Amino acid sequence: MINMASSQLNENIDRGQWTGRIGFILAAAGSAIGLGNIWRFPYSVAEGGGGLFVIIYLFFVLVIGLPVLLAELSLGRASQRNPVGAFKAMIPGKFWPYVGGLGVLTGGGILAFYSVIAGWTLGYLGKSVSGTLSQAVDGESSGQIFSSFVADPTWPVILSGIFLLITFFVVRGGVAKGIERATTLLMPALFVLLLALAVRALTLPNGMEGLIYLFTPDWSKLSLNVVMGALGQALFSLSLGMGAMITYGSYASKKENLWKSGIFIATADTGIALLAGLIIFPTLFFASADPQAGPGLVFVVLPTIFNQMPFGSVVAMAFFSLLGIAALTSTVSLLEVVVSYFVDEKGWSRHTASITIAGACFLLAIPSALAFGASPQLSGGDDSILPFGLDFLSLNNNIWGNYSLSIGAFLICVGVAWFWGIPKFLSALEDGHSQIFPMPGRQIVGLLVKIICPLAVLTVLIFIIATGNYF
Ligand code: TRP
Repeated sequence: MINMASSQLNENIDRGQWTGRIGFILAAAGSAIGLGNIWRFPYSVAEGGGGLFVIIYLFFVLVIGLPVLLAELSLGRASQRNPVGAFKAMIPGKFWPYVGGLGVLTGGGILAFYSVIAGWTLGYLGKSVSGTLSQAVDGESSGQIFSSFVADPTWPVILSGIFLLITFFVVRGGVAKGIERATTLLMPALFVLLLALAVRALTLPNGMEGLIYLFTPDWSKLSLNVVMGALGQALFSLSLGMGAMITYGSYASKKENLWKSGIFIATADTGIALLAGLIIFPTLFFASADPQAGPGLVFVVLPTIFNQMPFGSVVAMAFFSLLGIAALTSTVSLLEVVVSYFVDEKGWSRHTASITIAGACFLLAIPSALAFGASPQLSGGDDSILPFGLDFLSLNNNIWGNYSLSIGAFLICVGVAWFWGIPKFLSALEDGHSQIFPMPGRQIVGLLVKIICPLAVLTVLIFIIATGNYF
């Protein structure tokens, strides 16, 4: 991870590097794997009509996600800069640094609502310790526990603040050995626990209905919103479209094989999202909860499955701890993007940058933390002052987590392919390594980044603007 000791002594000369190959891969996978897989994916699937969403999402991961991931990592490693600096260094022209700037802004925008959900995981950890969760025996009782938790005007705010404070401490000084070592142990633990939960979920009465729901596309549900949601989810889940992978790539050394890293990150991330789906949907059918539960979906559904297991409260504690850690390795990457910009470009110290930005994100997080009943004006529905009937958190989730990332991914592809150039991109990608994908692989990625990705994203955006179907 980031070499803090030296970067604090002299940030501008020595920006720090991952301590090694495993550190880089795990940090990048840790950024990708988070609430996007376990919280956002299932509820996007529910909103997007099940299997149809999943198929479009998988298509976008392969055709847009992986190429953009490789492009970001290469741009970062070649430039050794934050997103703004990377564009400045590699691509001539006044316009391109603004693309990095949009990314930095988006990082803050995402962090501000993401930390609210991350705070909820802490709250649910508390509930599993105190025993409250054992009362969540079916969809209804669990739904009530959830609604009264999120409608409280204080706890969700405090918990998101605590989460941002922890994120600040990690980015400020402890990324090196601490998180790197912790992730090595905890990511596999999360995986094993998810696997066990999936087995339990699939063997519940009606469990197989969930499996069918997840993989059977209902083409009549096809709409622009589903396509946009799936595109946004593919980018969000892989931490793409705003320069997080540019930043993480910038701390990677020539020893890294970026092809392999990229493929590993994308596979692990997608696998964990699917595994989460295999837990949520079977349990949902079993507990007869409402599949349209929105941002509360996993928090309502999961407790009911814990209560179907031996030592359910221990499993619940383990699960919410691991989910909190998965969220932390993601919030760290979001904060790191913004911090690296202020450190590299504005000469701020890492300490000042991380405390200022974490603090600002906390203030911005407050309206999202109040958007589930505490403030009716922000909660969507009749009394809401917000457009499209959305609550404040969902609105931000859509704006930053779908639109901004899509626009960012489009511009990153155009910049890398047309202005940096595919030959330079491919040699940066393979720098220090023999080509592991000699012929078709390189050409396919070149074609995807140059033509297919920009065209696909642009088409979706144009259709949405033309038809006015924003959300
Ligand atoms: N990918 C993370 C998740 O799935 C969230 C995240 C971290 C992210 N860094 C990002 C999303 C950068 C978009 C861009 O939970």
